[in-house]
Amino acid sequence: GLKIVTIGGGSSYTPELMEGLINRYHELPVREIWLVDIHDGEEKLKIVGALAKRMWAATQYPVEVHLTLDRRVALKDADFVTTQFRVGLLEARIKDERIPLSHGMLGQETNGAGGIFKAFRTIPVMKQIIEDMQDLCPNAWLINFTNPSGIITETVIKQFGWEKCIGLCNVPEISMIKEPAKIGCKREDLQYRFAGLNHFHWHKVFDKDGHDVTGSLLEHINDKDGGTPKNIYQADFPVDLLQTMNLLPCGYHRYYFLKKEMLQHSIDEFRAGETRAEQVKSVENALFDLYRDTKLHEKPKELEKRGGAYYSDVACECINAIYNNKRQPMVVSTVNCGSISCLPADAIVEVTSLISAKGAEPLAWGEMKSHERGWLQMMKAMEECTIEAAIKGDYGVAYEAFNLNPLVENGAVAEKVLNELLVAHEKYLPQF
Ligand code: NAD
Ligand code: G6P
Ligand code: MN
Ligand code: MN
Repeated sequence: GLKIVTIGGGSSYTPELMEGLINRYHELPVREIWLVDIHDGEEKLKIVGALAKRMWAATQYPVEVHLTLDRRVALKDADFVTTQFRVGLLEARIKDERIPLSHGMLGQETNGAGGIFKAFRTIPVMKQIIEDMQDLCPNAWLINFTNPSGIITETVIKQFGWEKCIGLCNVPEISMIKEPAKIGCKREDLQYRFAGLNHFHWHKVFDKDGHDVTGSLLEHINDKDGGTPKNIYQADFPVDLLQTMNLLPCGYHRYYFLKKEMLQHSIDEFRAGETRAEQVKSVENALFDLYRDTKLHEKPKELEKRGGAYYSDVACECINAIYNNKRQPMVVSTVNCGSISCLPADAIVEVTSLISAKGAEPLAWGEMKSHERGWLQMMKAMEECTIEAAIKGDYGVAYEAFNLNPLVENGAVAEKVLNELLVAHEKYLPQF
């Protein structure tokens, strides 16, 4: 049987993960699940861990759920390690959002200055996790969900040399769930192809006969029940621009293509006293109140209020496809290998890939047009600077990442925000 270890086990998403494993139990013979957290997350781990145990008990499957604060005990002989931790918890996210916003820049969990700092905090912890894995489970797969997912996955594979790593995001999955009905189709009637970077990818869609139906889907891009996750404000996309591109954007492109509108909305929320992190805090508190109820033994519907809804389907499907060597098409962050020709071959990209026992095999996308190429190359360079700064603790390179990031205003204010964030997060930035 399989031993699965989840780092950041106290996350409110854990019941989703349990549900995903329970639904696949007939194909995926899990024996042990280890939920790992830290002292600061111990309360959450106890509550959500007890629910996880009740969920498995209700199935009668012989699966043991262990809760621990000792990562090394958990990692010993693991087959799959999933990562869903948040260094500094939501308090740190509040700072990532509020500090840039207080200087008139977007504050967001994976984009702009906040996303860069989430990487700075996460990378030192990820380094320790990889060192432990080298010791304790050298053959395990690492399924990374910790944000910024693409940047963290690139660091794990390219800098730390852990090749058996796949990065995940729920955004492509949401598109594939929501879109087909818009044009009277079912998901299995359509062929999806995604390419780009995590939270910066596009997709195109074909019908059974290979006809491009991207244009028909673009007609619905501003419907409010489309492929955008709950955490993103749905300002109307500029349809003319998208029609010229003939690509469907991800919800996160709004921060770039509608920079002013999105910033204004965030500033309004900030002034009204609640950024997304603070909204999430309320959602999380309500969720944990439900989780405490010992009569509950399934994932509550309210979890859908989180932006990451459906992520565990992706995580469990990925583990399943590796374990059962399925060659299943999935959208993942993996080594480019030429699938996007304008980016380095060893860069991590988010592309439709075939998932099998060997891992992810990215499908070739073809040439990116000038417009898309320009964006991707800049964003990848920004990611590279972020990773280099995070590893070396180099202030100058951190400034370069800020300078390249389109959501960071350049000049004196960039330096100000950089310095403020460095001080605010000092406790979690041993490298600086
Ligand atoms: P959360 O604030 O609930 O944190 C999850 C747990 O991580 C907490 O219990 C916390 O104590 C624990 N933790 C913190 N530092 C740790 C460490 N060093 N070792 C082990 N555990 C540690 O976060 P959340 O809202 O559940 O999100 C978890 C992570 O998943 C975040 O990084 C978030 O950005 C990411 N996420 C990713 C996607 C995606 O599409 N890839 C979607 C949603 C969330
Ligand atoms: C989205 C993304 C995640 C993101 C999260 C935020 O869908 O894919 O990567 O960070 O959900 O959700 P939250 O509910 O925490 O704001
Ligand atoms: Mn994501
Ligand atoms: Mn900039």
